[in-house]
Amino acid sequence: MKTRITEMFGIQHPIIQGGMHYVGFAEMAAAVSNAGGLGIITGLTQGTPEKLADEIARCKDMTDKPFGVNLTFLPTVNAPDYPGLVRVIIEGGVKVVETAGNNPAQVLPFFKDAGVKVIHKCTSVRHSLKAQSIGCDAVSVDGFECGGHPGEDDIPNMILLPRAADELEIPFVASGGMADARSLVASLAMGAEGMNMGTRFIATKEAPVHENVKKAIVAASELDTRLVMRPLRNTERVMTNDAVEELLRIEKEKGADLKFEDIIEQVAGVYPRIMMEGDMDAGAWSCGMVAGLINDIPTCQELIDGIMTEAEEIIRGRLAGFLN
Ligand SMILES: Cc1cc2nc3c(=O)[nH]c(=O)nc-3n(C[C@H](O)[C@H](O)[C@H](O)COP(=O)(O)O)c2cc1C
Repeated sequence: MKTRITEMFGIQHPIIQGGMHYVGFAEMAAAVSNAGGLGIITGLTQGTPEKLADEIARCKDMTDKPFGVNLTFLPTVNAPDYPGLVRVIIEGGVKVVETAGNNPAQVLPFFKDAGVKVIHKCTSVRHSLKAQSIGCDAVSVDGFECGGHPGEDDIPNMILLPRAADELEIPFVASGGMADARSLVASLAMGAEGMNMGTRFIATKEAPVHENVKKAIVAASELDTRLVMRPLRNTERVMTNDAVEELLRIEKEKGADLKFEDIIEQVAGVYPRIMMEGDMDAGAWSCGMVAGLINDIPTCQELIDGIMTEAEEIIRGRLAGFLN
């Protein structure tokens, strides 16, 4: 399949694996890229520029296909060494960067000069238009369904994607709630040029996370996510568990007085314990409603091949059939 996204990133299929904290290691990115999609290493998970440089080198040993790096800009007390991370991305020869969080205007000139394409993840039409105006090459439009940070507008993709299509000139991929061929074909119908998946890629053989995480996603239904940190205007969609229920209890109790420190135990530094050690009640971890559509743990190749074969069947068979 050929779209503006496959052309821009030099990939075979219009499928991207979004950056994911403690999931986006070289094994994950290389598996997706080798299967013809665009795999993405999560920059901040690596910690330092040196470690990110090592991860990029490891990924290059595992694939000769294009892959990207995610740079998430968060309001933190101890800001990561963003200039250093940008430098090793460029020196490492990475050709695609997925930015997320705050406006990436400060880093764009460096990537532009180096010929690195930038796809910015946005949860609204206005942020997408801003990304376009500052020179991003593409956007990933992340609906209310998504795992991770859906923003504060709560607009689901059935509305958000056609709205984005009406306003944007640069190409965009649909993100949030994407799992299979139906997701891809529907996204294309609504104006997207491909799709970005997070949660679906965690439940694959190559995802470098504990088996408990994959099993939890397969066992979960679409009813099993919760929105946390809304009072802090830092809403995150997570899989429910004991820690999340406790977090929600604290949020209710504190009301408008809630501070980050009140819930630090449930959210800070919990990812290694969940993703590496499989301690599924350690804290809040991002997960999309799409868990309700995930019932197996295939290889990335099986997943992507299956999506592309079935997408063709839907387009040529089911959809074309309506016209005959
Ligand atoms: C466990 C997990 C961790 C994530 N970490 C990040 C991150 O560090 N940076 C980022 O930009 N997005 C992050 N995301 C969001 C994904 O890149 C993607 O936008 C989202 O998962 C799409 O929604 P879906 O899960 O319904 O496919 C994360 C998602 C998950 C599930």
